[in-house]
Amino acid sequence: MAGGAVMAPGASKGYPGKMTLYVFVTCLVASSGGLIFGYDIGISGGITSMDTFLQKFFPKVYYKEKHTLSRNQYCEFDSQLLTTFTSSLYLAALVASFFASAVTRAFGRRISMLGGGIIFLGGAAINGGAKDVAMLIIGRILLGIGVGFASQSVPLYLSEMAPAKLRGMLNIAFQLMITIGIFIANVVNYATNKIEGGWGWRLGLGLAAVPAIIITVGSLFLPDTPNSLIERGHNEQAMSMLRKIRGTDDIKAEYDDLVVASEDSQLVKHPWSTLLQRKYRPQLCMSLLIPTFQQLTGINVVMFYAPVLFKTLGFGDDASLMSAVITGLVNVVATFVSIITVDKVGRRALFLQGGVQMVISQILVGTLIGIKFGANGQGEITKTYAVLVVVCICVFVTAFAWSWGPLGWLVPSEIFPLEIRSAAQSINVSVNMLFTFVVAQIFLPLLCHLRFGLFYFFAAWEVAMTIFIALFLPETKNMPIEEMALVWKEHWFWSRFVNDDTDMEAARRNRG
Ligand code: BGC
Repeated sequence: MAGGAVMAPGASKGYPGKMTLYVFVTCLVASSGGLIFGYDIGISGGITSMDTFLQKFFPKVYYKEKHTLSRNQYCEFDSQLLTTFTSSLYLAALVASFFASAVTRAFGRRISMLGGGIIFLGGAAINGGAKDVAMLIIGRILLGIGVGFASQSVPLYLSEMAPAKLRGMLNIAFQLMITIGIFIANVVNYATNKIEGGWGWRLGLGLAAVPAIIITVGSLFLPDTPNSLIERGHNEQAMSMLRKIRGTDDIKAEYDDLVVASEDSQLVKHPWSTLLQRKYRPQLCMSLLIPTFQQLTGINVVMFYAPVLFKTLGFGDDASLMSAVITGLVNVVATFVSIITVDKVGRRALFLQGGVQMVISQILVGTLIGIKFGANGQGEITKTYAVLVVVCICVFVTAFAWSWGPLGWLVPSEIFPLEIRSAAQSINVSVNMLFTFVVAQIFLPLLCHLRFGLFYFFAAWEVAMTIFIALFLPETKNMPIEEMALVWKEHWFWSRFVNDDTDMEAARRNRG
């Protein structure tokens, strides 16, 4: 089974649920894989708004920005080459996540993280020393491969190491690290832009080596998950690892379940075609739609392009980068809200509340920009007005940070039954990267064509996704993974797709 995801089975069977120091440290180290992803998201936007960077690599964009007389602010950064620079990474990550899936299965999660870290390190070095656009793009492709490997293996690793009862919280550690990576990059952008001599952008790109070293060195010391060890036939090692991470000798029930789970997953020889069976329709839909919707919130318009966007609004260099630092910090802090509440109020409540808040704030941003710049993109804004726009953007970011951000990774990881979990997880990662790529690629041309209406475009998608959640996503809070099938069976719409007696259940019964 590609990627062989076998997560810790349900909490209902009385597995040890405490967090040992060992599990805490290993999960902390592994989740640092999110840092490389986040650092990159944050650094690209800042770099592409820096004059010295544009002068060296994208002189036409620089010229347009500085010398166009009748300025249409919406279009000044619209350059195909500039968007290719930003979005090439995600295309590479998309392709890499499929390879990562095979490596993760055959050699373990740790090797994927290690490989991802090393390749990312290579990308950081090439980018830091870049002499031309080709070097920049090659560097970014390597970074993308690193990100693809990390986002395939880290969430699986976290879910497999975590005690079942803490799985949701530990899963969000990946998202938390993404937001911390973005924030650090925003601060680096702000600081390096001040460096005299115009080589600050080099430092920013090169510093990507730091999170790469953290995950590379960290993964050298990480143990592999019991699930992966069993999958690769190291049952003795798996048993002692389980004792160590759960801090008790009483691990037989969990161990037995992992063995059964592994046997079950061997029964399914073709997870990709299995996933197409009618009974997996709810999971297939979710694995396609959740990551698509996550990106269609438009979050990465803010994450990648906040400084460019703020410059478009007429902010100076420094003010643009500082505003990005503010949105980055808001993103980190608001993520804690989901960590604390996700297992109490549930996924649906966060999705619905966050969705409504995103719609309102995006409409406000679009309207505020529309009032000042109209359709022709000409105008000046006062300081107070600019602050108001930044506040509305922050309200949007907080909503994303406690809803679609973490839940976009958490929910898919908990709704897939074991036999299709890894295939569906690969789809989730690659669709996420595809739409990250699409949004990065179309944002600048869309801003130029739709103008302030771009924000209404995203708001319309947010209305659609909120209705989708209200109608089609069952609550998964506190539901053990292995009992998750129940939520579909009881759902008004999905119940018609889910057979009462699945082949897998029949196979389990036959085995005894
Ligand atoms: C998304 C990223 C996004 C980040 C922002 C993640 O969940 O997958 O695309 O940039 O959240 O915090």
